[in-house]
Amino acid sequence: MSEINNSLFIITGAGSGIGQALTLKAIAEGARVIAADINEAGLDETIRQANGKAEKYILDVSNPEQIKSFAANIIQKHPDETIILVNNAGVGLASGNFTETPLEDFEWLMNINLYGVVRLTKAFLPHLLQQNKGHIVNVSSVYGLAGMPTNSAYSTAKFGVKGFTDVLKAELLGTNVKVSSVHPGGIKTNIARNSRISATQNVELAKKTMAKFEKVALKMPASEAADIIIKGIKKDASRILIGSDAKALDWIVRIFPNSYHKIIAKVFKL
Ligand SMILES: NC(=O)c1ccc[n+]([C@@H]2O[C@H](COP(=O)([O-])OP(=O)(O)OC[C@H]3O[C@@H](n4cnc5c(N)ncnc54)[C@H](O)[C@@H]3O)[C@@H](O)[C@H]2O)c1
Repeated sequence: MSEINNSLFIITGAGSGIGQALTLKAIAEGARVIAADINEAGLDETIRQANGKAEKYILDVSNPEQIKSFAANIIQKHPDETIILVNNAGVGLASGNFTETPLEDFEWLMNINLYGVVRLTKAFLPHLLQQNKGHIVNVSSVYGLAGMPTNSAYSTAKFGVKGFTDVLKAELLGTNVKVSSVHPGGIKTNIARNSRISATQNVELAKKTMAKFEKVALKMPASEAADIIIKGIKKDASRILIGSDAKALDWIVRIFPNSYHKIIAKVFKL
C-alpha cells in the first residue's frame, strides 16, 4: 500500500487535463504536490484551483539539463519525504500515416512522451532507492497496448513507456519502491486540440478531424481518471487501465494478438 497522505507528489504536465486533476485530488488526499509544466499559464490555473496549495515549477521534460536541476532542487529541499513521481506530461501529433510523418516531428514527440519519462526516472530513482520508498507512476496510454494507425510516433512512445515501466517493475522487485503504468482510454482534456500538426498535413482538415475525435472519443472527465489513478497508486497496482474503452481494447489485443490490427483498421475505417 502506497501512502498518499503526507507524501510528496511530483506531477509533470500538471498545467492541464489529467495532471491538473491529479494535482487537485492528491492535495485533497493530504499530499503535497510539486506541479510541473512547460506552460506557465496552465500551471497558474492549477495553482489557483488548488487554492495556492501546490508548488509551481516550470519544466520542459524534453530538456535534460532542466530535469537535472529540477531533481537536484527537489531532493535537496525535501530529502526525507516519500516521493510519488507521476510522469504524465505528453503531447499529440497529427501527422497522418507513418510515410507522411516527418522524422523531426517523430523525434520531437519521442523526446517528450518517452525520453521525458526515462530522464525523470533516471534523475529520481537513485534517491528513491536510497530511501527505499516511493512510487513511480508512468502515464502510457491504451495506444501503448494497441498500435494505432496514424499515430506511429505516439504509439511508439507509449509502447516504449510501457516496456520501460515493465523493466523497472522487474528490476525493483524486492525493493520498497513501487512502479505503475497507466493506460487511459479517451479522457476529456486538451490533448487533441493542442496536438502539433505536421507540415505534410492539411491544417483545416487536421483540425476538423481532431475536433471530431475529441467529441467522439474523449469522454471521461479528467477528474474521474485522476480518481482511478489515485486508487491504483494506493493499491500499488502494477497496471492502471482507465475506462471501458481501454479495457475493451486490452481484451481485443489479448484475444486476437495476430489480427487485432485488422479490427482496429475496420473500426477506424482505414
Ligand atoms: N486525454 C486522453 O485521452 C489520453 C489518453 C491516453 C493517454 N493520455 C496521456 O495522458 C497524459 C496527460 O495528457 P492530457 O490528456 O491531460 O493532455 P493535456 O494536453 O490536457 O495536458 C498535457 C500537459 O502536458 C504539458 N506538456 C506538454 N509538453 C510538455 C513538456 N515538454 N514539458 C512539460 N510539460 C509538457 C502541457 O503543457 C499540458 O499541460 C499524456 O501523457 C497523454 O499522452 C491521455
